[in-house]
Amino acid sequence: MTPVRPAEAADLDGLVRLETAAFASDRLDRRAFRHALASPTILALTTGPSDDPAGYALVQLRGGSRLGRITSIAIAPDRAGRGLGRALLAAAEDAARGRGCDRMRLEVRADNEAARRLYERAGYARFAVVEDYYEDGTAAWRYERPLG
Ligand SMILES: CC(C)(COP(=O)(O)OP(=O)(O)OC[C@H]1O[C@@H](n2cnc3c(N)ncnc32)[C@H](O)[C@@H]1OP(=O)(O)O)[C@@H](O)C(=O)NCCC(=O)NCCS
Repeated sequence: MTPVRPAEAADLDGLVRLETAAFASDRLDRRAFRHALASPTILALTTGPSDDPAGYALVQLRGGSRLGRITSIAIAPDRAGRGLGRALLAAAEDAARGRGCDRMRLEVRADNEAARRLYERAGYARFAVVEDYYEDGTAAWRYERPLG
């Protein structure tokens, strides 16, 4: 399998394309990716070549906190269902652990069954529901997992 690696400035165009292909709404825009790639408190991981990435994950770190937050994870639709999401999630957790995190949190659309299953099978437990969280009014389910 293609190894997961830190994303860099050269990955920007590919990540924006992947975002458009993977999400129907609530997309990160180019500016958000540019910020993520430059930020010392965001871990940006990708897999595959920069002109045709297979997936990415972003983890937000907070100074003075051991809590990491996965702000986005996506796999190119034509590469879904082959274990890449699971591999990126595990790599994101490893990277967060390496930066001192002992817990990870994330939000997922209540109607995103594939993502909910990915997280639940990886050991995440739902601890809250936030109504009207996404652009179209869909609720977010909030999950947490100890990183150990
Ligand atoms: C959600 C997503 C990241 C999963 O990535 P993936 O590479 O397709 O998933 P994997 O092949 O690694 O599968 C891992 C687990 O996810 C779950 N899963 C993945 N696709 C699924 C589907 N279509 N239906 C139900 N469960 C699914 C399964 O539990 C699977 O493990 P299992 O097969 O052992 O049960 C990917 O579908 C995606 O990018 N979707 C669009 C963007 C998105 O919704 N991102 C998440 C935002 S919170």
